[in-house]
Amino acid sequence: MTTLLDGKTLSKTIQSELAEEVKVLKDQGIQPGLAVILVGDDPASQVYVGSKRKTCEKLGILSKASILPASTSQDELMAIVDQYNSDPEIHGILCQLPLPAHLDEQQVIEAIAPSKDVDCFHPENVGRVLIGMPRFLPCTPHGIVQLIKRTGIETTGKHTVILGRSDIVGKPLAAMMLQKDSGENMGCNSTVTVCHSATKNLEELCREADILVAAIGKPEFVKGHMVKEGAVVIDVGINRIDADNEKGYRLVGDVDFEEVKPRCQAITPVPGGVGPMTIAMLMYNTVSSARLS
Ligand code: GUN
Repeated sequence: MTTLLDGKTLSKTIQSELAEEVKVLKDQGIQPGLAVILVGDDPASQVYVGSKRKTCEKLGILSKASILPASTSQDELMAIVDQYNSDPEIHGILCQLPLPAHLDEQQVIEAIAPSKDVDCFHPENVGRVLIGMPRFLPCTPHGIVQLIKRTGIETTGKHTVILGRSDIVGKPLAAMMLQKDSGENMGCNSTVTVCHSATKNLEELCREADILVAAIGKPEFVKGHMVKEGAVVIDVGINRIDADNEKGYRLVGDVDFEEVKPRCQAITPVPGGVGPMTIAMLMYNTVSSARLS
């Protein structure tokens, strides 16, 4: 039997743990606060920002938002970041990416105070993850590691193969999977291979994986023959493909779920796997930032 790695249920468990911690902090006079900045009218980004705000409310976290027109200038955006950097009610700042093309994302990322960088995108925080001394852990990789560890799946000595080398998922996840486990840093002690568009023998490398993570944004890219019997498969993809239904589309991951599921020990569904974990870990970072304040 294949285990379904149910991120929806686990994210609810983590959220109720956090709601308890928020109560304790409030008794000490601290209410965690998250500021979300959204520029432009990308519908997917609007959905993500809406669900981040709703989750804050549910957990008792203060949420502030700056919803800005696509015409916002770099200077205006930097002024808003500055304002949240010095706002004592705010412990976490998130600027939803991607930004409209005329804006400089890297400049914004580096302007966010590292102590409020709950996305863990600032170079200082990325570097801390790389040396196993994290201030924050990046939300999607942390969600994946929580899903694996809390299911009781062993990572030590395992071969983890990651498809995709993005700054948001592939690279920081590689660092966490590789990191020696100190008990606190979410290190996984595994042997890591990262594959990308120029990788040779990609299918052979996939077949060697004990833990296979797909984060490349290609619908149903991972097929049954690319997965070792008994592997753990983590699907980070959320892709819209045309479908003959009311919406005209359906959501699929980077893994061909029906083909791959019978071969593996455990697999994440899409939706309901990694996605809900990402928001839970954003809340986790906001609460831990408030605790450290
Ligand atoms: N856009 C897609 N994923 C993310 C994320 O995790 N954080 C931010 N800030 N923007 C995103």
